[in-house]
Parts: sequence; C-alpha cells; structure tokens
Amino acid sequence: MTTTDVVEMLKEPRMIKICAPMVRYSKLQFRTLVRRYGCDICFTPMILADSFVQSSKARDNEFTTHEKDQPLIVQFAAKTVNDFVDASEMVAPYCNGVDLNCGCPQRWAMQEGYGADLLRKPELVKDLVSQVRNRIPRPFTVSAKIRLLKDIRQTIALCQTLEKADASFLTIHARTPEMRNEPIDLDKLKLLRDHVRLPLVANGDAKSLESAESLFKESGCEGVMSARGILTNPALFSGLSATPLACVQDWLDITSTVPTEFQCFHHHLVFIYGYRLCAYCGNGLKFIIFCFIALTFAITTMLVLQILYTESIPQSSLHGAHGAVATDYSNCSQIGTKILARSGNAVDAAVAATICMAVVAPHKTGLGGGGYIMIYNYKNYTHPIVIDFASNTTTGFFAEAGIRLPALLKGLEFAQRSYGSLAWRDVVEPVVELTREGFVISKDLADEVAKNTDYEIFYAGPLSPGDRLQLHELTRTLDIIAHYGATALYNGTLSHEILQNTTLRERLLQQLASYEPTVTMARSTTLHRHTIYYPSHASFMQEVIEALENLPILAGNASTIESQVLVAQTLMNVFLQFFQNLQHDVKKETYTGVMAMDWQDTYVTILSGLSSPFGSGNRMAGFFLDNIDDNDLSTFIPIIFHYDGGICGLRGVLGSNDVFLNGQILYNLIVRALNVSAAIEYPRYYFVSDGMVIEDNQRHSMEAALQARLYSMISPLSHDDSSSMRSVNAIVKRKDSLSSHSDSRGNGIASRF
Ligand SMILES: Cc1cc2nc3c(=O)[nH]c(=O)nc-3n(C[C@H](O)[C@H](O)[C@H](O)COP(=O)(O)O)c2cc1C
Repeated sequence: MTTTDVVEMLKEPRMIKICAPMVRYSKLQFRTLVRRYGCDICFTPMILADSFVQSSKARDNEFTTHEKDQPLIVQFAAKTVNDFVDASEMVAPYCNGVDLNCGCPQRWAMQEGYGADLLRKPELVKDLVSQVRNRIPRPFTVSAKIRLLKDIRQTIALCQTLEKADASFLTIHARTPEMRNEPIDLDKLKLLRDHVRLPLVANGDAKSLESAESLFKESGCEGVMSARGILTNPALFSGLSATPLACVQDWLDITSTVPTEFQCFHHHLVFIYGYRLCAYCGNGLKFIIFCFIALTFAITTMLVLQILYTESIPQSSLHGAHGAVATDYSNCSQIGTKILARSGNAVDAAVAATICMAVVAPHKTGLGGGGYIMIYNYKNYTHPIVIDFASNTTTGFFAEAGIRLPALLKGLEFAQRSYGSLAWRDVVEPVVELTREGFVISKDLADEVAKNTDYEIFYAGPLSPGDRLQLHELTRTLDIIAHYGATALYNGTLSHEILQNTTLRERLLQQLASYEPTVTMARSTTLHRHTIYYPSHASFMQEVIEALENLPILAGNASTIESQVLVAQTLMNVFLQFFQNLQHDVKKETYTGVMAMDWQDTYVTILSGLSSPFGSGNRMAGFFLDNIDDNDLSTFIPIIFHYDGGICGLRGVLGSNDVFLNGQILYNLIVRALNVSAAIEYPRYYFVSDGMVIEDNQRHSMEAALQARLYSMISPLSHDDSSSMRSVNAIVKRKDSLSSHSDSRGNGIASRF
C-alpha cells in the first residue's frame, strides 16, 4: 500500500477495488480478510450518526478499527448537519474519510428520513456534505453513496450539487431504490460519468474480478465496489473465482485474534462455504467428497464453538414448542397460538391477541387507545423496529377535543400488513367469533366495572366473574373491520359513527383519515453480555440498564440479599435523579402486554393501552374512546433482548409501563439467571414520588430480611395496591427450548403450540 489518500488513489489509472459498506458484515474482521486479497479501500457498515454521537455503547458496538485497517471510509446514516458533523469529527482521527448513505431503500430508513430518502433532498445533502468538508481538512474525504433516481436528469443534478458541495468522490449503485435484483442500469451510469467531473465508484453486480474489470472499463469510473460478490468470495479482487481454502484458514486466524461475536464468525463462514461448494459443482465424486469434508468441518467447528461459547443450560420440558403467545387472558393467548398453528407468524398472532385483549379487557386497552410494537427476527439479525402508534395521538384537533386519536387498529394493521403472513381477515376473524359467541368475564373486568357503576350501563348491570358476556355492537364493528380493514374506522362508516357527537367533527374526521403510525429503529444497550433493545422514546431505559451493568455483581452473587439491596439502591438513585429533573410524578397509564414468538424466530412485543381504565368512558361503536389527560402513553416500553456470546443463548420478549420494573425483570432473567416464571413472579418494588411501594401479598412477598433492608433504605409506603401491581408477560428461549409466562398479577395464561 503506497498511500492512504483516497482521492490520490482514485487518480491512479488502474481500477481501485473497494469493499462495500454492508450492515453487519463489513466489520473489522472482514475488512482485514479482504485487504489480504487485493482490496484497496474498505467501507464500514452504515452507522446511525445520532446514536453514535449520543451513546458510548453505540460507539463501542458499531466501530472498531486498528492502525492497519486503512484506507477506511466510515459510512453514516444522517439527516441533520449536527449529527453528521459531530459523528465525523469523532471518527476522523481513526479513518480516512466519511461517507453519507443516500441509498438505503429499507422502509424504516426512508420513513426516518435516512438513506434513499435523501435522494429527493439535494439541498440537505449539500449542506450535510459541505459542513463536514468545512470542518475536517483534506486529505480526509467526504463522499456520498447514492442510487439512481428514475429520472436521470435529477440524478445528474444531484451529483452536480454534490460536486458544488465539494464532495471528494461519489459511489453510484446503478439501481433505483425500487430495483432489487434486476441487472444494473449501465447506460445511466455512463451518462452520469459523462456529466460529472468528480471521481466515481461504480457499484452493482461485481461478482468476480472479470465482471469488476468490465464494469470499470465500460462505465469509465475510477473504482469498482463489490458487496454480495465479495461477501461470498472474499478473495474476489485477487482474481480467484472460488474462495481458496487459505482464505477460510485466514478467516479462522483473524477471528481467533480479533474478538469476534459468534454470529459474525458463523455468518461469514456460511457465506464463504456456500460459494466454495458451488465452485466444485459438476466435478462428480470430487464434489461429493469435498461436500462431505466441508460439512464435517463446518459442523464440527459449529459444535465446538457452541460448546465453548454458550452457557450450559438444562433442557426444559417445553423443548420443541413451535411458538408461544403470552397475554393477560387465556383465550387471547389461545387465539394467538391457533394463528401460529395455521401458519401465521408471530406478528399475526400478536396482532390477533391484542385485538382480543381490546375485547375482553376494555379497562386495559381498546380500539380507542394506542401503543408500541417491537418486531425482531433473531435468525436474520435484522435490527428490531418499533411501530409507534402512541406519540402522535394527542395532537391537533383531537387535543382540542380532549380525545385520543384512536390509533390502536391503525398500528396493528400496519404491523400485520407489513410483517404478517396471513390475510388481515384471517387474523381478525377468530376475535370476531369470540366476541359474537361471548367470553368469560374476568375478575379484573368485573372489579373495574364495580368501581364505577356508570359503566354498568354498558353491560346492562353489574358483571359477575365467570359469567359469559356477548358484545353485539363490538361484534358488528370488528366484523366490518375484518372485512374492510382499518379504513372503515379511519375513513369510512365507523369513523363517522365514533365522532358523530363531537365538536370539531369535520376536522377530527380529516385528522383521523390522515393518521399514520411511525416506524423507528429500536435503540440498544448491554447488560451482562446481552443486548437489550428498547424504543427510542424510552431513552431512560439506557440509564437504568447502564446503572445495573456498572454494579460489581456477578452471576454467582446476584441473588444474595446484599446484591439485591444494591440493585434497589441503584435503581432508587436513578429514580431520584430523574425526578429531580422532572419535578413531577409520572402518571401511569393502564396497559396490557402481548408477547409472541414463532418457529422462525420472529419475536414480537406489543404494549397497548389507555390513559385510564375504560378511557373516557365514552363508548362508541362498541368500544371506548380514550381521554388524553396529559398522557401520551410514553411509559409503555416493549423490550427484546438476546445473549451476545452465542446463537443458543438466552433471548426473549417482555415489556411494561415502568422502566424500573423492566430493569428488575431483566436483572432477574439475565444476571440472576432465574427461569422466566420465577423472574416475573419475584416480588417487586415500585418507586413513587414519596417513596417506594414494596409488594407484599399472599402470592408475592419478599424474604423478611430483604424486606427489612429495603424498608431501612427509605421510608417506603408498603401496601398491596393492586393498581400498581403491573402485569408483565414474557417469552424466552434458550437453545431451542421455549418458555412463556403470563404474570399472575394480570391473571392471564400463556399458550404454546
Ligand atoms: C448484507 C448487505 C448489507 C448492506 N449494507 C449496506 C450499508 O450499510 N450501506 C450501504 O450504502 N449499502 C449497503 N448495502 C448495499 C451494498 O453496499 C451495495 O450497494 C449493493 O449490494 C449492490 O452491490 P452488489 O451488487 O455488489 O451486491 C448492503 C448490501 C448487502 C447485501
């Protein structure tokens, strides 16, 4: 390597060979490997600039390098100048340039204003690039990676804008954001070359050195970038058409010297092996022998690594379950698992179970409410996304009218249509059946109705637990929704029905019709080598988990009274610090949590609810509208977590409306290694503005010694206030064993299939 000045390199007459940014893949270990095989420049995976700036954990997780990892371009997803400038200044001492991602076509990125969304905002792109350029001197490069726009004139205009912004070079992935695996559009790439003076890197379909060279010659670009090609054959740029065995050996060497997560090691090995096997196809007996040796080697490696890197865990009796659903009501869990049994996935199951909860527990959640859904696929290692149908529900004319915009159904339908596998109607139909045939009244519901006899009017008298309740009006509403989808409620007959007597009716109808949930990426933090994902609105979760992570507690002493007191003290300190800042009590909404996992390892957690039991008490079309009462449901925190040290470690879904409660349960599950039932049923404490409530009742009572120590910490209010005893449902998996638990505080029963 003669120079690390990327612009100088791109002036050389030869083809400059570049390893593409690849989320999860183009990390330090892989970059080290491809540099051994002729790669000139490497890009990091795309990193979210705002998390990178805000969180030291994100920085540790997302960016590692060393002095030989050069030339290196760090790619950011950014949409504000401050984030991009700050992130670039942080990495500048450790790399040779930064790149702005203007090509990611994924839905979450576009919705958040990142990636390909920037293609339509040339002024913003210009600002982002020029501001970094003005701050960090050359030879540090500032570049952008773009896709083509449908209209080539606009693409040319964008590139020329970037030229004016003083970009160092551009990478052109010669597809539009809508294109997937179609061949690249070489003609448009050539047109760009003719109209843009900046050095260009051509990207798309370089699957071998020959195809890279032909792209280089035909496009007239200065460099060629490869993504999928180099992933399957890291030796691609050296001219070898199949990954040499030496390259596999190199991968083993590199990953034994640079700390590497098992997932990363394993994924690359699978890519490399898949390719090697194909290269030997057509060679008869040799091929079979090669397959045999390769597979034996791969399986043995996997087993050895699994033994080395995963905890030894006793097999539970639940081994072999295909999926599970945990809710506060057994019929709703069963509706969920029936959906799994009919080839629905965890999203279908959780959506159906949540609609079911809206029927059987109108005091906890309802079509008038809102909430959050977090979805993750453990097998694909996709970053969890959060669907938010809570935060924009108390604005505009709805705020003026004092009603929450009824967002639940829109959020559920959005999740189901985007990530579910069944037809919407098949998901809603089982709940329509239950509502029509009647369901058994829970003690919870009967008690809530008894608290306010006004509600008895809706049920033609007081409710008795155990009796069957049929809800005709709600059956009709759900039937319409099953047939016509959420449109019926947002821009159809039902919307007119529910807002019929309201002031501002026309404006409310307009706001309702244009309502859309938002999608964001989950944030993450770490607890005892487990990644914990939480929604961005619950940023306080980070502080709670970091406080727990920094305690001098190990698995061996995590259950001692001393450790538990230390945990309580730490959480209380965090709580006090928080309240000093906020100076008011946080009001707790009423909610229910629905958890689901399927055999494909899709994990879903839905927390939905209302500002208060039965919302505003105003029932329309069979369900209650919600009041607002300063309540934006932002205390709802769905959680997904997984062990980082091996694919068979502990992972799971849970959630509650209390950040400290989530902290206690994660501590029980991860640090104390309690099984899921014990972790949830373990007695808890809650923080309130004037002290602490310690749970103390027949089912949940702490050891006297621990209780005494907690009492001595603060003058707590100790009473069994059932309204503060929140229900947390959870499903966890270890190896292939799945365990689910519905909190006895919520009276539900989880169901497995
Ligand atoms: C697994 C994977 C991850 C990717 N991650 C990123 C990324 O982080 N940033 C980016 O700009 N492009 C990303 N891409 C797109 C590639 O960089 C590249 O533009 C695209 O795959 C086309 O190149 P290819 O035909 O050589 O695969 C990714 C592609 C793959 C396959």
